[in-house]
Amino acid sequence: MAVTQDDLYATLDLDLSWSEAELPERVRTKHVHRLHPYHGKFIPQLVEALLDRYLERSDHVLDPFAGSGTTLVQALESGLDATGVDIAAFNCLLMRVKTAPYDLAELAGELQDVAMRVESLPQRGARPSGYLRKWYAPRAVAELLGFRELIPEYRHREVLRVILSRAARSARRAAHFDLEAPKEPQREEYWCHKHRRECRPVEAAAGFLRRYTVDTLARIEEFAGVRDVDREATVLHGDARELDLAGQYDGILTSPPYPGLIDYHEQHRYAYELLGLDDRREREIGAAASGTSLVALEAYRAGIAAVLARASAALPPDAPVLVVVNDRRDLYPEILARAGLRLEARLRRHVNRRTGRRAGEYFEDVLVARPA
Ligand SMILES: C[S@@+](CC[C@H](N)C(=O)[O-])C[C@H]1O[C@@H](n2cnc3c(N)ncnc32)[C@H](O)[C@@H]1O
Repeated sequence: MAVTQDDLYATLDLDLSWSEAELPERVRTKHVHRLHPYHGKFIPQLVEALLDRYLERSDHVLDPFAGSGTTLVQALESGLDATGVDIAAFNCLLMRVKTAPYDLAELAGELQDVAMRVESLPQRGARPSGYLRKWYAPRAVAELLGFRELIPEYRHREVLRVILSRAARSARRAAHFDLEAPKEPQREEYWCHKHRRECRPVEAAAGFLRRYTVDTLARIEEFAGVRDVDREATVLHGDARELDLAGQYDGILTSPPYPGLIDYHEQHRYAYELLGLDDRREREIGAAASGTSLVALEAYRAGIAAVLARASAALPPDAPVLVVVNDRRDLYPEILARAGLRLEARLRRHVNRRTGRRAGEYFEDVLVARPA
């Protein structure tokens, strides 16, 4: 018998499912969550609900696949300490910038100064790499490199690196509807599925640099108003299969990579190129580039199980291990067993996606497990 919409909804955890109207994009990407786009993150409202249900204020939560830092940012807002691990250097930079404590007056002084100097960026500098020449118009690349030259003059260099990266993402010669993973640069006018009109490839970066400098300050200021100043976030850069997790935690909340979906280094390639970041893509678990062959899936199961086993070893008995995943291949029952975890509940939630060409709805699970 066919499953009806009502049957499907009856299995949902409605407290973890929101409609677009209840939770529009601007709320899902409030304050520092949108310092830079990131494909494959979960929403802060889900983290908030799970921290509230399974952990206590002033607990310390660990996210071994921390990505853009949603768990860390929300933990600070919810009054918890947090530690996040990620293999991708850009993600770690982004997390540090989102969660660092700031002297807001000093930050404002620097960013206002930078915003003014965007009008007259230095024009000399390094010859652009092949990647930059391919993906940027000559004026855009000159402006990005000019901004990069300014960075060493300031104290908040990491903030400026994130602003540069965000502007570089927007200034690529990529179609507006395909900013997540463009394959080839767009050199001519094109029909834009996002704006439903003819659009032209971007020629300049200065406008983005100025806008994002101002926006970044506003977002950091807004977050400073809601974060708990007595809590802190720690970012560890490395492979969660082998990194020293340095401490004891009260629970785990994470959304692991899923095989064959996203290349987490490649999606921010411009940042690696411009900032000279350490590229460790060969250590990414489940990277899309590794495919979904039987061998790749086995490497994935072994990799995630190793991370969850190591992370759980840093927990007290019976602590919650919360894994958010859309497990369409049903890999997780075996992964959890291999990691020595007992599945206590599988909560279904409805996910709305209203942006980009991959818009549509789907379901994902929150696996609630505990050390067996
Ligand atoms: C689904 S994303 C996490 C997104 C995160 N929940 C957020 O809201 O931004 C999975 C992350 O796992 C990271 N990752 C992949 N392999 C890893 C490894 N071996 N060690 C640590 N992190 C890894 C990827 O770089 C990616 O950022």
